[in-house]
Amino acid sequence: MAAEKHCDRMGRASMSAAGGRYFLETMGCQMNRLDSELVAGQLRALGYEPAGGPDDADIVLINTCSVRQHAEDKVYSRLGELRQLKRRRADMLIGIIGCMAERDGDAILSECEHVDLLCGPNQLARVPELIQAVLAERQRPVALMENQSRKLSPAERSLALDSLEAIDLNRVIPTDGSVLQSYVRVQRGCDKFCSFCVVPFTRGPEVGRPPANIVQESQRLADAGAKEITLLGQTVNSYAYQENGRTVRFAELLARVHAVSGIERLRFVTSYPGDFTDDILEAMRDLPKVCEYLHIPAQSGSNTVLERMKRHYTAEQYVDLIERARAIVPGISLAGDFIVGFTGETDDDFEKTVALVERVRYSNTFIFKYSPRPGTAADRRLADDVPPAVKRERNMRLLDVQKRISLADRQRFIGETLEVLVEGFSKAAIKAQDAEQTRGHEVGWRRSDQLTGRTRGDEIVVFTGPASLIGRFVGVRITAATALTLHGDVVEKTEQSPLPVTP
Ligand code: SAH
Ligand code: F3S
Repeated sequence: MAAEKHCDRMGRASMSAAGGRYFLETMGCQMNRLDSELVAGQLRALGYEPAGGPDDADIVLINTCSVRQHAEDKVYSRLGELRQLKRRRADMLIGIIGCMAERDGDAILSECEHVDLLCGPNQLARVPELIQAVLAERQRPVALMENQSRKLSPAERSLALDSLEAIDLNRVIPTDGSVLQSYVRVQRGCDKFCSFCVVPFTRGPEVGRPPANIVQESQRLADAGAKEITLLGQTVNSYAYQENGRTVRFAELLARVHAVSGIERLRFVTSYPGDFTDDILEAMRDLPKVCEYLHIPAQSGSNTVLERMKRHYTAEQYVDLIERARAIVPGISLAGDFIVGFTGETDDDFEKTVALVERVRYSNTFIFKYSPRPGTAADRRLADDVPPAVKRERNMRLLDVQKRISLADRQRFIGETLEVLVEGFSKAAIKAQDAEQTRGHEVGWRRSDQLTGRTRGDEIVVFTGPASLIGRFVGVRITAATALTLHGDVVEKTEQSPLPVTP
């Protein structure tokens, strides 16, 4: 039996050299999307081609998210489907990578015998080696962090940095003109330990990447055609890197990436309200490529809740920061995250959150129901005592409040001409075409003339225009607004696009 399996494995090893197929499914945040892109690049460098779905893949990897229970439940349900598939296709390799591998690896290995490998988010440079190990019949290789729940000493930090840099440094960037917008990591991990949050446990301590590497990667992306770069970190504004005896901070990093030729828009997510200094706002004002957009989660408007969350700022300090942002960066668009139904949240606490949302007038918010995460301080010390029905009700109420604000916020653009970077066909148009195609009508992509793109403030704009505009900056005069979308007419092309149209 073992010998037969060995044959299978060897057969698959030689098949991989001839170009096996991989399917990589990504759950969760932007950091996961970037990680998946880097892992996919590694697999292509090994000779694997992307598969259309798990059915025709030799390797299936799920890049997982642990931030809420719901995200983990989705992975277990996907693993249930893959168990069936592997019954029919015993030689398929299944790997769990990302945050859940780190947080729940033992359970996955014991409950899911069909999972062949585990790899945490800080070890992704080792995915090829783990795949080779499975192919060479090493049972269930695992790459996880050794000690994820503490801050690093400066010496440990620099050691960690060297091993962690590998995956970003070896990034495979497509040169076929398909890269328009891209993420670049500026820091890993998080040292904040908000009491509800699993991220410091799954992604480990905060480590800033060397500025020279960030600039070099941005330049490579620009050379490949990228026009917009989003710098990624859990708390980007606390970015710090020791260089020649001095500390490079985030405002300076922004200026250095700003100098990369070819990049026309620069964004960054996510900001932490606690360490947000005015030099960053001034950089946003003074560096023309830096978009007037700030994603800065408040989580709650109640100081008692913020205290229990261990966020280390008050609602008043948060509002003060927002006012400084509005004063220094005129026209800035704001986005925030909120958790409703956190431990002990009373009606009065929740009303304070509603009041904060109404005061700040975000253009967009992401609202989550509190989900206790094993191992976090909140889960160990505080009861999850807000009933699910109350969480649901508060969630809906806050969504309603935000919807009203988003609509009013977007209506202010009616009559204005905004700069839009055209990303592709509008999803609604694509859906309509898919429906046509499934009814048996052959519909060419180019028949769609509903395009979509984003403003500097990250608002989505839908408008009519030829596919040749994809990849270009255009001026769109806004004629209508919904809570989620702006609609308008192209009034000018602001630039000639070097990008080919990729239907
Ligand atoms: N700084 C990170 C935060 C990661 S988690 C970033 O945005 O990149 C993203 C959001 O998920 C948080 O801002 C918070 O609003 C929400 N969240 C985190 N832990 C949660 C939990 N246990 N339950 C519900 N929502 C949570
Ligand atoms: Fe999580 Fe707080 Fe860090 S929300 S990612 S611990 S800033």
